[in-house]
Amino acid sequence: MKILVLVDSHHQGNTMKIAEAMAEAAPLTVIKAEKASGLNFDDYDIIGLGGGIYFGKHGASVTEAAGLIHDRPVFVFSTSGTGAEKNNEPLVSLLKNNGAEVLGSFACKGLDKFFIFKLAGGINKGRPNDGDLENGKKFILEVIEKYGKKERK
Ligand SMILES: Cc1cc2nc3c(=O)[nH]c(=O)nc-3n(C[C@H](O)[C@H](O)[C@H](O)COP(=O)(O)O)c2cc1C
Repeated sequence: MKILVLVDSHHQGNTMKIAEAMAEAAPLTVIKAEKASGLNFDDYDIIGLGGGIYFGKHGASVTEAAGLIHDRPVFVFSTSGTGAEKNNEPLVSLLKNNGAEVLGSFACKGLDKFFIFKLAGGINKGRPNDGDLENGKKFILEVIEKYGKKERK
């Protein structure tokens, strides 16, 4: 099985930590989302899209990458100030509209030094933490399990 993960983690590298934890649990290739246009998505069984949340949604490079993906099994993840999974919804909707099958959605808190938060060294210090990384690993294994069940049907 080949899994590609496209990531935009330009604020603090928080989401990249989740992607790297996933890569410890499962064989996957992590590439910056801005490089997506040069890739052949047919080479992969599952494509993951992850990034920090900026103004309520994933950043432009992840959103643009998602626009290139049609009719494929995908998963979505994010880190953010709130850690809310709801932040993944715009990307999930875009992917579904392109015929992608969304196998899962994961979110957790990440260190946030945006604007006035920077003055106190940021909020969510130490996040993602070990528990978040473990949850990221569990999540990718669940995604793979779900994909396997679908294939066996
Ligand atoms: C410009 C900017 C806008 C942000 N907007 C939001 C937001 O709307 N909601 C939220 O929960 N967090 C917001 N955050 C916090 C980031 O989502 C959080 O720090 C995230 O973990 C960054 O991920 P990254 O380090 O992988 O880029 C924002 C951060 C920045 C720098």
